[in-house]
Amino acid sequence: MESSQNISSIFALPAQAKLSPGDFEYAAKLLRGRAGIVLGAHKQEMAGRTLALRAHAIGHKSVHEYLDELARNPTSPEWEMFINSFTINHTAFFREQHHFEILARFVRTRRKPISIWCSAASTGEEPYTIAMTLRESCPQPDVGVSIWATDIDTNAIQRAREGVYPQERVKPVPEDYLHKYFQRGTGRRAGLVRVKDSLRSLVEFGVFNLLQNDWPAPGSFDAIFCRNTMIYFDKATQTKILERFAPTLKTGGLLFAGHSENFTYLTDAFRLQGQTVYVKS
Ligand SMILES: C[S@@+](CC[C@H](N)C(=O)[O-])C[C@H]1O[C@@H](n2cnc3c(N)ncnc32)[C@H](O)[C@@H]1O
Repeated sequence: MESSQNISSIFALPAQAKLSPGDFEYAAKLLRGRAGIVLGAHKQEMAGRTLALRAHAIGHKSVHEYLDELARNPTSPEWEMFINSFTINHTAFFREQHHFEILARFVRTRRKPISIWCSAASTGEEPYTIAMTLRESCPQPDVGVSIWATDIDTNAIQRAREGVYPQERVKPVPEDYLHKYFQRGTGRRAGLVRVKDSLRSLVEFGVFNLLQNDWPAPGSFDAIFCRNTMIYFDKATQTKILERFAPTLKTGGLLFAGHSENFTYLTDAFRLQGQTVYVKS
């Protein structure tokens, strides 16, 4: 790997690479257009370093040239790397625990089978928490429960599929669930835990961009989780996504949002039920 000294000389950028305002705007526009993610000005230095390294690694003479290549070629495989560089994957098991208590009560009263879409699943902690909640609420093996867990970030979804976590990640998981749903690693895998197949089999993973055109069929889901993701989008994008979520829910279906997300004034498609849970109007 080249040192940052070499990279900076090749790109005529200082070691703490800052993009020119024009190139930062260019990168931000491409990212927003493709993934909806709004790149704040405080990301300029990080973006500079990331893009300079990546552009250099794949043989471009400048970040500008790299961005031109993306702009010119919407089907370039490089888009995947570009987007993965800017996603924020922060998540946890049983994050915002009150939602899982609400989900447990909700599914007990619903007509079965139950189908849930976890639409920004990151590295898997959220869909596996949903899976544990469903299994505990509907323990009969013949009661159908399924989760479709998607994210735009291909690396995150790959890690989610693997279902292997350092032991400290599962601290929020109740002890009896840990025994039931996880295997402890031994030998080289000591300090890691792995989701058991009995839980993993409830979850189907996939890559899905909330801005893409082909969406799930109407009435597909009992509930959708889209938590701590809309905050990265502007209001127009949030509204568009909410209006696409609504038809994919069954009557009375729920939308779970993140703790700082408020959709009340964006659309009539949902009304707030409480604790950042929305019901389809
Ligand atoms: C902060 S994480 C939230 C994870 C989880 N929902 C939670 O609340 O713990 C945000 C996730 O949204 C995903 N994301 C960002 N833009 C997206 C898009 N256009 N389509 C689908 N997922 C997207 C990111 O890759 C990231 O994994």
